[in-house]
Amino acid sequence: MPADDRPPSTTLPAPLTSFIGRDSEIGDVLSLLDDDGTRLLTMMGAGGVGKTRLCLEVARRVEHDFADGAAFIPLAAIRDPELILHAIAKTAGVQERDDQPLVDSLVAALRDRHLLLVLDNFEHLLATSPLWLSELLGRCPRLKVLVTSRIALRIGGEQRYLVSPMPIPDPDGAIDVSEVTAVRLFVQRAHFIRSDFALSDANREAVSDICRRLEGLPLAIELAAARVNMFPPEQILLLLTDRFRLLAGGEQDAPVRMRSMRDGVAWSYDLLPAEEQQLFQQLSVFIGGFALDAAAAVGEGSLDAVAGVTSLVAANGRRARWRHPLCHAGNDSGVRVGAARRQWWRESREKPSRELVYRPRKSGFRG
Ligand SMILES: Nc1ncnc2c1ncn2[C@@H]1O[C@H](COP(=O)(O)OP(=O)(O)O)[C@@H](O)[C@H]1O
Ligand SMILES: [Mg+2]
Repeated sequence: MPADDRPPSTTLPAPLTSFIGRDSEIGDVLSLLDDDGTRLLTMMGAGGVGKTRLCLEVARRVEHDFADGAAFIPLAAIRDPELILHAIAKTAGVQERDDQPLVDSLVAALRDRHLLLVLDNFEHLLATSPLWLSELLGRCPRLKVLVTSRIALRIGGEQRYLVSPMPIPDPDGAIDVSEVTAVRLFVQRAHFIRSDFALSDANREAVSDICRRLEGLPLAIELAAARVNMFPPEQILLLLTDRFRLLAGGEQDAPVRMRSMRDGVAWSYDLLPAEEQQLFQQLSVFIGGFALDAAAAVGEGSLDAVAGVTSLVAANGRRARWRHPLCHAGNDSGVRVGAARRQWWRESREKPSRELVYRPRKSGFRG
């Protein structure tokens, strides 16, 4: 599509790499957006799972259906919720006026606009309820809002969509691995780094194992693929047992929280309220995962452990593989704390003062 065919107010950033896979997700989200009843659609999922990328791809495909195009507002660098309205006003070209609240100026400017507003990285602004957004949606009937956030906004009319990690190769090898999305992403990114890199009989198994080990998380796959300048895939696989050392060192122009898995985990952790941070630290004594009653024994003294774990683990979505940034629900009704997250905690925080006294009898718990 030539640039001058785009709606005049479009501010979607142009991607620097090609988009891979996600056909069914795009289909799902397009039909949700197409529904007149959908005014606010939140794409949820773990950090690095591909929310922003998917959201931009969808926005790019529908921007022509909106007479006034699409406006992209990156919120990650905004710390003060008050400043969001200023950011939206600036992007949408709305004049701020001294004699009226900013939300009124925005409503006056957007009331008749047929616009898709894309708000990226909403999660860290959820300490205060986004009432202004309900107000904007209520007073601007032709406005649709697409949000990415690790956590739901929990405001009226919110339609939620859970973004899962990418499909990974099946252990039984039924499907050609070169067609599997996570492998395609690895190969394409590795090819950027080394133009002679290609999937071959010699490296196919290692690349598949890397994608499995990284659970289909696109950010982690990109970081691992960036290492092909130094190591062959078999070696990357071996080094992944110490994932942080290998994966630290993403692109220098990426936002800080994207540069490594460690930054991603730290960002998630810092967003938690103090009681949940304390619970997360206490839970890090478990090696692979835990059952809720084990968490209750260990988490005693912080907040209600069951409520806390429920908050650390987002509810299982349509697909069991969907993960919260810090914990995720296992297939066995236990809870798993990802290895990367525990390792980060162990390295950067004090060791827990309490010894693990609870001994499991349940199969969902490995201490
Ligand atoms: N479908 C995709 N095709 C190509 N690259 C992708 C895809 N999904 C994610 N990525 C890449 O993986 C990284 C993490 O994705 P991103 O959308 O930023 O995750 P999130 O917003 O969930 O934290 C980014 O560099 C992004 O470009
Ligand atoms: Mg994002």
